[in-house]
Amino acid sequence: MKDIMISDTIKYIGADDKTLDLFEGQYVIPNGVSYNSYLILDDKVAVMDTVDARATDEWLKNLEEALGNRAVDYLVVSHMEPDHAANIQTLVEKYPGMQIVGNAKTFGMIDQFFKMDITNQSLIVKEGDTLSLGNHTLQFVMAPMVHWPEVMVTYEQSEKILFSADGFGKFGALDTEEDWACEARRYYFNIVGKYGAQVQALLKKAAGLDIQMICPLHGPILKEDLGYYIGKYDVWSSYEPENKGVLVAYASIYGNTKEAAIKMASLLEAKGAEKVVLTDLTREDMAEALEDAFRYDSLVVAAPTYDGGIFPCVEEFLLHLKSKNYQKRKVGIMDNGTWAPMAGKHMKTMLEAMKNITICNQTVSIRSAMNETNEKEIEELANEILA
Ligand code: FEO
Repeated sequence: MKDIMISDTIKYIGADDKTLDLFEGQYVIPNGVSYNSYLILDDKVAVMDTVDARATDEWLKNLEEALGNRAVDYLVVSHMEPDHAANIQTLVEKYPGMQIVGNAKTFGMIDQFFKMDITNQSLIVKEGDTLSLGNHTLQFVMAPMVHWPEVMVTYEQSEKILFSADGFGKFGALDTEEDWACEARRYYFNIVGKYGAQVQALLKKAAGLDIQMICPLHGPILKEDLGYYIGKYDVWSSYEPENKGVLVAYASIYGNTKEAAIKMASLLEAKGAEKVVLTDLTREDMAEALEDAFRYDSLVVAAPTYDGGIFPCVEEFLLHLKSKNYQKRKVGIMDNGTWAPMAGKHMKTMLEAMKNITICNQTVSIRSAMNETNEKEIEELANEILA
């Protein structure tokens, strides 16, 4: 079992997964991911969420080691996504006297995922309900759509710990030494990003609690400087840019659009942009590009025309931005086409469908390869981005 100290009576029983290729079937996780689960030992014993099916054996071993010869009285289900809920039935079968604690939506989903009758083992809670374990008291706070509709977080009153479900989670196994914000931001915008309003609502409720520790379902337990993490979540969920800077996101078939994108990036730097990130959408991680689009206040998107539309990975990038509620940013458009450059027109239409996006008046439209006119257009667009 990992030696992760929470308190004398609350134990970490989760597990790292360093072999999964794609989290949620789509996100690369070079440093793995942790499925966090916790055990509260009191007069009554509570397990706070289970783990992914991939980690069942290690989790059960951790649970048994921490339990000694005791049994589990309650399983609190914060979230039904299978990376946390896969082992509900395993625990029900192992501890037939156990009660499952969830809200009305939780139990609807349990019925969908599992074939078991838990009618007499269901403890349905709602906003503000409490459950005493002895010295510990669990207070339930509903957090619908932070990430799924049934999500709730739990505040343990005696030790002032917030069990925050997916909130404040990050990619990366627990033995990874890395900056929290980088992988927490990529996790947030790609997984929870669409639901900024719901995260804001949860932050408002959390502001009324004296929180001394945050125990998320992924990533490290947060014990110090909690204002830093809560501040990041406040910025991210309000869709405000975190930093001044420009993401130049491009795709290129033969290198001509790439050359123009590089020219744009170097001009922006030369003109004093605080930060410029250049990303090749055909090769680099789309989730990282999406994260950077939300991180900085401006975006330049450059695409060749393909089949009369936008080169596919750039179109996909814009679709991701739309679905994650991309807003409140300035965007410049560059396109390329040898006989009928159409990508710019289609990109503009897609961007116009997003909220509060300021599209620059200057565009860059390349016919095959950059010429002098394009160089002037790039200079003008760079000026407009930085204005
Ligand atoms: Fe980590 Fe939404 O599950």
